[in-house]
Amino acid sequence: MTGQFEGKVALVTGGSLGIGHTAVLAFAREGARVVVAARGVADGEETVEEVRRAGGEAVFVKTDVSQAAEVEEMVTKSVELYGRLDYAFNNAGVGGDRGPMHEQTEESWDDTININLKGLWLCMKYEITQMLQQGGGAIVNNSSGGGLVGFAGSWAYGASKHGVVGLTRIGALDYAQQGIRVNAVCPGHIRTPLSVARLAGNPELEKRLKARAPMGRGGTSEEVAEAVVWLCSDAASYITGVALSIDGGYVAG
Ligand SMILES: NC(=O)c1ccc[n+]([C@@H]2O[C@H](COP(=O)([O-])OP(=O)(O)OC[C@H]3O[C@@H](n4cnc5c(N)ncnc54)[C@H](O)[C@@H]3O)[C@@H](O)[C@H]2O)c1
Repeated sequence: MTGQFEGKVALVTGGSLGIGHTAVLAFAREGARVVVAARGVADGEETVEEVRRAGGEAVFVKTDVSQAAEVEEMVTKSVELYGRLDYAFNNAGVGGDRGPMHEQTEESWDDTININLKGLWLCMKYEITQMLQQGGGAIVNNSSGGGLVGFAGSWAYGASKHGVVGLTRIGALDYAQQGIRVNAVCPGHIRTPLSVARLAGNPELEKRLKARAPMGRGGTSEEVAEAVVWLCSDAASYITGVALSIDGGYVAG
């Protein structure tokens, strides 16, 4: 495929489903060779097939982002297979438990923080190591509206996503001089397998979430993926350290 990312290599964590899956297709459409990293083998392989059917190039690398050795291997394999790493979309995440904080378990806290925050830190660590060797790159981290404002009952998730915005800003400061841009996207309510599972059996909550956005609707994975592609592109060459809301105006209120 030809496009603005011809000759470039993009890595998407959690690329097998939802927002990550849509971002994989968008990077490939722009001509990038794409590394799809996720835990689910069947969905990951299917995503790669979809890219190939559309005439693009992609490979699946099974990765649990909470495991340092697997994240290091994910970057090593990307470089072995495709020779470089230009863009990374650190998107893998889980919703975590919701409800009264005093009823939540330490195990559930650890699980959410290990994937959403420590996992993203690990991804940045190994991606930046490679990008420094190449002389630059662009990273986009997937935070959430819940990384900018509090979502009631969303303790570990909210803490992890606020942390992702912090890592983004610090990364932007520390690596600006080395040609690495680091930005975040903060989606509002987007219909994906994660949000569908979360809202299962609760149509009232879905209605409330949509109504909260001034635009009166939820967003699509495409609306997030297009912003990710743009933040990686040369069109955003002077942008680093931003946490970009994609939420129909939700956090503006
Ligand atoms: N859907 C929304 O409304 C929404 C809103 C704001 C932020 N987000 C964020 O967007 C990101 C993607 O969400 P989604 O709704 O597309 O979710 P999803 O469940 O549809 O997809 C999540 C992806 O992350 C992967 N993943 C989960 N844990 C992993 C791990 N330990 N290692 C590797 N991969 C792992 C899954 O395999 C899957 O590919 C998440 O970080 C989520 O917090 C989603």
